[in-house]
Amino acid sequence: MTGLAANPMSPPPEPARHFVSEVNRHVPAAQPGEFRPLTLGKLRVWPPVVLAPMAGVTNYPFRSLCREQGAGLYVSEMISSRGYLHGNRLTRLLASSSPDEVPRSVQMYGTVPAEVEEMARSLVDSGVHHLDMNFGCPVPKVTRCGGGSAIPVKPKLLAAIVRAAVRGAGPVPLTIKVRKGVDESLITYLDAGRVAQEEGAAAIGLHARTARELYSGYADWEAIGALKASVSIPVLGNGDIWEAWDALRMSRATGCDGVIVGRGCLGRPWLFAELAAVYDGREPADPPNLGGVIAVMTDHARRLAAFFGEEQGMRQMRKWCAWYTKGFRGSSVVRESLVRVRTIDAMLAAVAPLDPTEPFPLPALRAVRGKSGAQERVMLPEGWLADRDGDAPPDESALDGDEEDYEASLSGG
Ligand SMILES: Cc1cc2nc3c(=O)[nH]c(=O)nc-3n(C[C@H](O)[C@H](O)[C@H](O)COP(=O)(O)O)c2cc1C
Repeated sequence: MTGLAANPMSPPPEPARHFVSEVNRHVPAAQPGEFRPLTLGKLRVWPPVVLAPMAGVTNYPFRSLCREQGAGLYVSEMISSRGYLHGNRLTRLLASSSPDEVPRSVQMYGTVPAEVEEMARSLVDSGVHHLDMNFGCPVPKVTRCGGGSAIPVKPKLLAAIVRAAVRGAGPVPLTIKVRKGVDESLITYLDAGRVAQEEGAAAIGLHARTARELYSGYADWEAIGALKASVSIPVLGNGDIWEAWDALRMSRATGCDGVIVGRGCLGRPWLFAELAAVYDGREPADPPNLGGVIAVMTDHARRLAAFFGEEQGMRQMRKWCAWYTKGFRGSSVVRESLVRVRTIDAMLAAVAPLDPTEPFPLPALRAVRGKSGAQERVMLPEGWLADRDGDAPPDESALDGDEEDYEASLSGG
């Protein structure tokens, strides 16, 4: 006889994980019953995974691509109440969907309670199943006008907007998404949790950075745990989920009821298949090789072209090309042509010299895509902090102007 008989008392052997970074090498698999579906009103979401709203990213074409990888909740980019109610062409297109999208989810942005209520009602009438509200946008043009992450500074204003949104949403669950606060001296997320709960929100999502931090450093998962401990509504944890195993670590470390995944899926929509696997207790499949990545990228380009028209779709596709090919050998050489592509054929010609058998590069798993970097002082309207007890909506007239420019100015969260 060769070898030793297995000791029945020894723990099961650790699975051989090829495509995993060091931090996740020993994360235990999910046990049966360890995680539960995310409950948002009448909605049950399994796995408890939410695609983060991302401006310029989570339009219908990308959401449909992700949805085919794994179940979950896929939220639109933020849609301004002003653009929506004025019938702005681009805003309406970005808020639109297709009957195959179930559940359909839209993130709203607005600062005037009556407008937010009207928008919520109209979206529900058009068949939306979930609504989210953005109270985390750190973009200066927005916070300077009292929007996004400036709102939780005034809990009564926040309450008035959430109350109106919940009223407009009626039977449809409404969640809110916040950051930790404006900066370390102005932390607001625990107050926001209390307000969300009191006003009938179905859950609160926390991107565990301050607005000042933008996307720098690491998300503060301890804050997610503190929020979970302070409210009875579900908490969605957000920040720095790059690999499916990160989601299990976040769920376990914080007790959060679901996770929101942002930049990790940029150019990696199969991350949702990996998330579905790990929450089900299975080992995820290895990511595709370069040939497989190019096939997904081409599928994505076709969806964008069908939705926006080839010219606009391919303009959007340029950033995606950089995200899909990030870290592959030779991708820097073809990037020059990829940033100029105008047609799907040109995109395919640009990647033709690459080796389709090249395996997915391990360091690309945690390579930051989309946004990263420095901190920035948060601009608030004059006198904003002097009246934190007020509930008057801010004057957003500074945001008026060309509506498509206005939509563009709202990119970020
Ligand atoms: C390109 C981009 C656009 C974003 N747009 C929005 C948005 O419209 N609404 C929002 O609430 N957050 C927005 N965010 C923030 C994300 O939803 C998420 O909170 C953030 O990226 C942190 O999660 P991550 O570490 O998984 O990326 C955006 C982020 C990126 C990278």
